[in-house]
Amino acid sequence: MFNVRKIKEDIYYIGANDRRLEKFENMFTLPEGVSYNSYAILDEKTAVLDTIDSSTVEVYLENIRYILKDRELDYLILHHVEPDHCAGVIELCEKYPNLQIYATKKAIDLLGQFYRFDYLDRCHAVSEGEELCLGKRTLKFLTAPMVHWPEVMVSYELSEQILFTADAFGSFKAVEGHLFADQVNYECDWLEESRRYYINIVGRQGASVVRLLKKVEGIDVKMLCPLHGLVFRTPETIQMIVEKYAKWAGYEPEEEGITIVYGSMYNNSALLADFLAGALADAGMPKIRIHDISKSDISNVIADAFRFSHLALVCNNYNTELYPKMDALLREMMMLNFDNRKVSILYNMSWGGKAVEIAKDILSSGKKIEYVGDVFKIVSSLKEEQKEEVEAFAKEIVASL
Ligand code: FEO
Repeated sequence: MFNVRKIKEDIYYIGANDRRLEKFENMFTLPEGVSYNSYAILDEKTAVLDTIDSSTVEVYLENIRYILKDRELDYLILHHVEPDHCAGVIELCEKYPNLQIYATKKAIDLLGQFYRFDYLDRCHAVSEGEELCLGKRTLKFLTAPMVHWPEVMVSYELSEQILFTADAFGSFKAVEGHLFADQVNYECDWLEESRRYYINIVGRQGASVVRLLKKVEGIDVKMLCPLHGLVFRTPETIQMIVEKYAKWAGYEPEEEGITIVYGSMYNNSALLADFLAGALADAGMPKIRIHDISKSDISNVIADAFRFSHLALVCNNYNTELYPKMDALLREMMMLNFDNRKVSILYNMSWGGKAVEIAKDILSSGKKIEYVGDVFKIVSSLKEEQKEEVEAFAKEIVASL
C-alpha cells in the first residue's frame, strides 16, 4: 500500500515510518519510531530525492510506482548514502534503465563500498553549485561534508525555494499524519526527539553544521525537507529550528537548568541525587532532570546534558574505578564535544577508589568546562549531619546560573 503526500505542486513526500526498529544505528532507542523521508519531483523530467531504509523499502517502491504511473524515472538524487537512506538504489537502477544518479564523488565511492553496485556508469559526481534543470523546477547542489558523513550534500529547488537538507533538521519519531511542523505543537511533541537525534547523531559535527547554516544564510528558504521527521514550511517553524540548530551546533546551552546523573547500586547515590534535586529546587534552579545511568537510555542523558547549562554527576567507585556506565556516558558525551557547561561532582565511596579522578580526566578534553563547588563526598550513604552541606552546595550551584 502506498503512502504519498503532496507537499507542493508536482512535489511529493514518498517516505515511510518504522515503528518496529528497537534501536537506531543499533544504539539509540526509538520509543516513538522514526521516519525515513524521501521526496519526488514530477516535472518534464522526473526525480526522486534519496531512498530509504531497507525496513521500509517495499512501501517506498510502491510509492514510486504509484506516483510515476507509466513515466520513466530520470534522476535519483542521493544527498547522503548512509544505509538508512540507501535501500532501493539497486532496485531503482534495475527497474529504470535510463536512471541517472546525482551525488557527490565521495557518495559514489561509498556506494561502491557498501553495496555490490554495478551501476557506476550511471552516476554523475556533482560539483558545488551545479544545477540540474527538470523543467519548471531546478535543483542546485550544495556540498555539506560531515553534516553527518563526509559525502553529504543538500539541494535547493530554485522555483519553490525548498531546501532538501539531508540529515540536518531531522528528528527521531515517526510521522503521525501531520507532516508539517506547523501542524503540531513542535516544542511540546517533537523538540525532545529532535534534540536527541541531533545531539547523538550529528552532535560531534557542530563546526560542519555551522558551515552549512552559513552557506544557506543568504538563501531565501520557504521549506526545509529533512531525511527524518517533519517538514518545515512556515517562517516561524523554519526560524525556530534554525535557531535551535545554531545553538546546538555552537555547543551553547539552550536554557538554564541542570541534569543530575547518578549511578547507584544500593540506592544510596540515588537518594543523594534526589536530596540534591530538592535542595536545588528550593534554591531556585529553574529546571531539573534526573537520570539513573543504569536505566535511562544514554542518548536521553546526553541530550539533557547538552540542553541545560549545568550538569551534576554523582560518581561512585566500582572495583575502585568509575562506575562503568558512568564511565561510558562521559566518554560518549566527550566524543560528541560536550563543552561550555558548568559541572559539579558528588562522590560516593566506601573504601577508596579513583572514580572522581577518572571522571575529571575524561571531562578534561572539554574546552570550556567550569567546575562549580568542591567535590561533595559521602561515605556509602548520606548522613543526617551532611544535609546542610548539600543545601549549601545546591545554593552555590544556583548562584552560578
Ligand atoms: Fe539518517 Fe546519517 O542518516
